[in-house]
Amino acid sequence: MSVLSAQQIKAYSEDGFFFAREMFSAEEIHLLRETATNDHAMDQAASLRDDGTGASVRLSLWNHPGDGIYGMFARSHRIVDAVEQLLEDEVYHYHSKMILKDAKVGGAWAWHQDYGYWYQNGLLFPDLCSVMIAVDKATEQNGCLQVLQGSHRMGRVNHILSGDQAGADVERVEHAKKRFPLIHCSMDAGDALFFHPNLLHASAANLSDHPRWALICCYNARSNDPYKESHHPSYTKLDKVEDDMIVRVGQDDARRSRVDFANLDSDDRSATSLADEQPS
Ligand code: SIN
Ligand code: MN
Repeated sequence: MSVLSAQQIKAYSEDGFFFAREMFSAEEIHLLRETATNDHAMDQAASLRDDGTGASVRLSLWNHPGDGIYGMFARSHRIVDAVEQLLEDEVYHYHSKMILKDAKVGGAWAWHQDYGYWYQNGLLFPDLCSVMIAVDKATEQNGCLQVLQGSHRMGRVNHILSGDQAGADVERVEHAKKRFPLIHCSMDAGDALFFHPNLLHASAANLSDHPRWALICCYNARSNDPYKESHHPSYTKLDKVEDDMIVRVGQDDARRSRVDFANLDSDDRSATSLADEQPS
């Protein structure tokens, strides 16, 4: 199904990202934020990553979308049909994560490419796509995502583990910053950003009084099924849902927070490879 404009497809190919403004309604985002902020299990599952300056970033991650509101976003035709159009293939849910960048304390993310980590997971091609949905308004002040426009065309860059975070080779990032425009991805709640797994991205600490939470749903092409098992799933059929399911499930107290969080500390940190250390 064609859901994206020719301009969006061109931007994804040339810039490595595009915005889908107001992709989700105020009601959908209100239900998502309310569910997530009251979700004790999400809070408990959150893993802290030292950003090297004393501040930490917090995130919770799940591999299978589930039947709750998080799954209704990740399985919605609205997102999945668009990603299938970009990747020109059936796609499946690779994982989702909530970035919990809290007011005053939320730390920074080092410059990286998601495929810099995911490459370790037996994926032969960078045929993946991430969709970041702003749960809160994201600004330069509260540490919005920053991207180097067009940097996905560099291909995969080596990633080096430093402290709790793996970052792209700093020398290359410094040169890339001179060649590609740095874009601060200011977003209103409900806006979405589609981005390529080789796009260099980072974010600064949140020194403001406002949280900057974001849901990121990641997809892999069926034809890019990994050749070995990892902590993220191999091809698993994704059951798409109608778009109105977000509100319907979001209004159902018994169901809305249902999802199985991954235990990032025991599942990922015990392993020694870059990928196992880094869920992003
Ligand atoms: C961010 O939200 O600042 C980056 C998160 C990520 O790269 O997964
Ligand atoms: Mn990332």
